[in-house]
Amino acid sequence: METVASGIRPTGNLHLGNYFGAMKNFVKMQDSNNCFFFIADYHSLTTHPTPEDLHGNVKNVLVEYLACGIDPEKATIYIQSDVPEVSELYLLLNMNAYLGELERVTSFKDKVRKQPENVNAGLLTYPTLMTADVIIHRAAKVPVGKDQEQNLEMMRTFARRFNRMYKVDYFPIPKAYNFDESLVKIPGLDGSGKMGKSEGNAVYLADTPEAIRKKVMRAVTDSGPTEKNQQKPEAIQNLFTLMDVVSKPETKSFFEDAYNDCSIRYGDLKKQLAEDIVDFNAPFRDKILSLSEDNAYLREVTSHGADRARESARKTIREVREIIGFKPF
Ligand code: TRP
Repeated sequence: METVASGIRPTGNLHLGNYFGAMKNFVKMQDSNNCFFFIADYHSLTTHPTPEDLHGNVKNVLVEYLACGIDPEKATIYIQSDVPEVSELYLLLNMNAYLGELERVTSFKDKVRKQPENVNAGLLTYPTLMTADVIIHRAAKVPVGKDQEQNLEMMRTFARRFNRMYKVDYFPIPKAYNFDESLVKIPGLDGSGKMGKSEGNAVYLADTPEAIRKKVMRAVTDSGPTEKNQQKPEAIQNLFTLMDVVSKPETKSFFEDAYNDCSIRYGDLKKQLAEDIVDFNAPFRDKILSLSEDNAYLREVTSHGADRARESARKTIREVREIIGFKPF
């Protein structure tokens, strides 16, 4: 069994893109790996959430992880800040992380450009905290999307550096378990690109049926096909791609045929797509609503997860302290 670690920053709700991306993979991986899935609430402090927002977002992500099928008996699911060993390892790793290399990370440079008023040390050392998250369990596999590739490279650098510096072969060098290519990319409703929170084009698992209908009816289309069997522009293709994942095959082929003989009415397609998303989301939404009411269960899940994660983390910290030379007299 390989040890796997990955996290999600609690910054909002999960959308269909998250579900068909990270979530489906996490759920699949938990059967055959020793998985540590956490909610990266330390990381989210770089954006200075209010205590209420922080707590609410952590709860949302936890509930939605569970609603998607992450099983607290199979995987270790925990809140990052429940495992203080992570912050100790972060401190230790920071001693060997250099300003130059941290400043060169693209996502850091983006932040400097976009929010010059809040370039904090947490943003700069985001990659060392991520490294701590993973190597605290000596995990070798990190399921992440393409956007995390550079952070993964930093993890590998820091893990290798530790081993080299102390002449040990202690930390496995974490490998990205890239799930992007193997999956359908879920497009957004704005006519281009993929579904994302910041793009404002997302359908969330927790959206009400009314919200879903409104969003889908507002999705970008064009004035319709004018020639038989013509190629679909991106905005239209996107709606069909969504149908691929939520609708029955015969529904999709009905609208394909209508597109191809130019009789399609986008209003009908959107109505059908909206209902299919509503039906697809319904079981998730039901679970999300009932789990949200059950704080006792959420407390049980998080304390069980924290126990398991800390057991693994404590062992690593004990050994790391020894390797570094922190020893009792
Ligand atoms: N940075 C990741 C994101 O924004 C979340 C994250 C934090 C993470 N620590 C991690 C992912 C460790 C993988 C491994 O989505």
